[in-house]
Amino acid sequence: MPTQAEPTVQKLFDLTGKVTLITGGTGWLGSSFSAALAEAGGTVVISSRDADRARVAAESLPSPAGAHHHGVALDHTDATSIADGFQAAVETAGQVDILVNNGLDPIGNDLTDCTFEQFARHQANTAGYFELARLLRNHIVQREAKGSVILLGSMYGQVASYPDAYEGITPASPVAYHAHKGGVIHLARHLAAYYAKDRVRVNCISPGPFPPDRVNQDMVKQLCTKLPMKRMGKPYELKGTLLLLASDAGSYITGQNITVDGGWTSW
Ligand SMILES: NC(=O)c1ccc[n+]([C@@H]2O[C@H](COP(=O)([O-])OP(=O)(O)OC[C@H]3O[C@@H](n4cnc5c(N)ncnc54)[C@H](OP(=O)(O)O)[C@@H]3O)[C@@H](O)[C@H]2O)c1
Repeated sequence: MPTQAEPTVQKLFDLTGKVTLITGGTGWLGSSFSAALAEAGGTVVISSRDADRARVAAESLPSPAGAHHHGVALDHTDATSIADGFQAAVETAGQVDILVNNGLDPIGNDLTDCTFEQFARHQANTAGYFELARLLRNHIVQREAKGSVILLGSMYGQVASYPDAYEGITPASPVAYHAHKGGVIHLARHLAAYYAKDRVRVNCISPGPFPPDRVNQDMVKQLCTKLPMKRMGKPYELKGTLLLLASDAGSYITGQNITVDGGWTSW
């Protein structure tokens, strides 16, 4: 028997009083992540490259515990915009406790036509994830608080794509994306080791295929043949993992990559 009363499951997952900054919170998965953070009682600061888009998305979020949500402008490929956006989040919400590095400046090119400049430019996504994590860590240390950083990786940061999943349908998955997501997963481990003493946990969520409805349905069918579960993921199926890592329910988890992929990487 524990000597002290343990927190309940409800208490462990409760984000009341916590503020999350989420990049790309207007996107396909970002909308679902933002809703999850708000549904758990937290305050959410959505960032977008467009301040108005961020504000509109923030206003649409639920507030079960009376939290006010906010929107800020932030382009994570630009150091000045990162600093300004983070500062705006702190000023508007009073603090930031949780950072979800979810945004992605995409690239369409695959390994046959990606230029040197495009490849290098895509890695600015990784640099942005790092810079924001460092700002969150410094802010937490200054407040003598505790924090959580969640980075969006991908199954494609862990395994190569099957060439025959794309051949004859679409270009291969972008080579620069594989490099970015592989880097992000390892970035989480490195930062976790150094930030643990500062009470900042750093983890990664690696989704498998969660395509929006607009993607090529022939490719979707082909991807399903490669999946043990034979279907695509739905954004809400990432909510539980996000809340585990964001909240005190995951208070002893750091430096980890949690894969949510319908079994793609299991064989
Ligand atoms: N969907 C999947 O199947 C899947 C699978 C594995 C991993 N992931 C990862 O999950 C994350 C979200 O993916 P998603 O499918 O939801 O993509 P998405 O719908 O394209 O959303 C990404 C968001 O990133 C924002 N963004 C673009 N450029 C940015 C920049 N320079 N700085 C800051 N934000 C920027 C955009 O918002 P604004 O235009 O409002 O700025 C966009 O809404 C990504 O990191 C992605 O790699 C997705």
